[in-house]
Amino acid sequence: MIEEIVKNPQRERDRVCKLINDDCLNVLKNIPDNSIDLIVTDPPYKTITGGNKNGINSIRPKGMLSGNRKLFAYQNTIQPNDWMPVIYSVLKPNTHAYIFTNALNMEIMLTESRKAGFQLHNILVWEKNNCTPSQYYMKNCEYVLLLRKGKAKWINNIGDSKTVHQFNNIIGSKLHPTEKPIDLLKFYINNSSTINDIVLDPFMGSGTTGVAALNNDRNFIGIELDKQYYDIAVKRINNEGKKNYE
Ligand SMILES: C[S@@+](CC[C@H](N)C(=O)[O-])C[C@H]1O[C@@H](n2cnc3c(N)ncnc32)[C@H](O)[C@@H]1O
Repeated sequence: MIEEIVKNPQRERDRVCKLINDDCLNVLKNIPDNSIDLIVTDPPYKTITGGNKNGINSIRPKGMLSGNRKLFAYQNTIQPNDWMPVIYSVLKPNTHAYIFTNALNMEIMLTESRKAGFQLHNILVWEKNNCTPSQYYMKNCEYVLLLRKGKAKWINNIGDSKTVHQFNNIIGSKLHPTEKPIDLLKFYINNSSTINDIVLDPFMGSGTTGVAALNNDRNFIGIELDKQYYDIAVKRINNEGKKNYE
């Protein structure tokens, strides 16, 4: 099926979508090299909590997490040096990859992306309408690496796209603990691909990238290891993508 998608993405001028419940490393090795037009992904990485000890003034910010709490089951089981070279291989030359990260993981993401062959176009800042309590400044933004494989490629909406962009976060009931807003992903997809392109998310979680891609008339390949989130993604993409995908 993946072979079919990458060889003929405009099949019947219909959207093509393939959702896979597996370790992305198993799946990526079967995707032909230089076949994907765009990668947009929010990979698993370590998050930091407030620790168990208090600071000098002993006042913990209200709502701050303590200890090493994981946000989801497969949070620390795969490392950037495992997946970065493989996503590089499957991307077409002269295209973009958007990788979400936080300040703690920025260094390793940049190092491993360079080792894999990527070059950095920009570090984007998603400014949120909420913030995470912290004793080292409250966090109201997330970072996204805009990487390129091969030659520099301009984004599509040059005059309208700033490095710091504001999109409302999902507050309250979420389908995934780190679910991202669809409009944010549409912004990246619109800027770095065209209609009928193939967008890949190897860590799709609840399928936000898939909904954004399909609703922007792109084809989509999504991989998720956790069956719980895979099932949520399938249901959501079928509801919001208006098709019967699996
Ligand atoms: C940060 S979350 C992505 C959430 C997503 N942005 C959303 O809006 O729902 C990363 C996801 O990667 C999944 N994951 C972890 N290791 C994986 C692997 N080896 N292969 C595929 N998925 C994996 C996790 O289960 C988790 O759902």
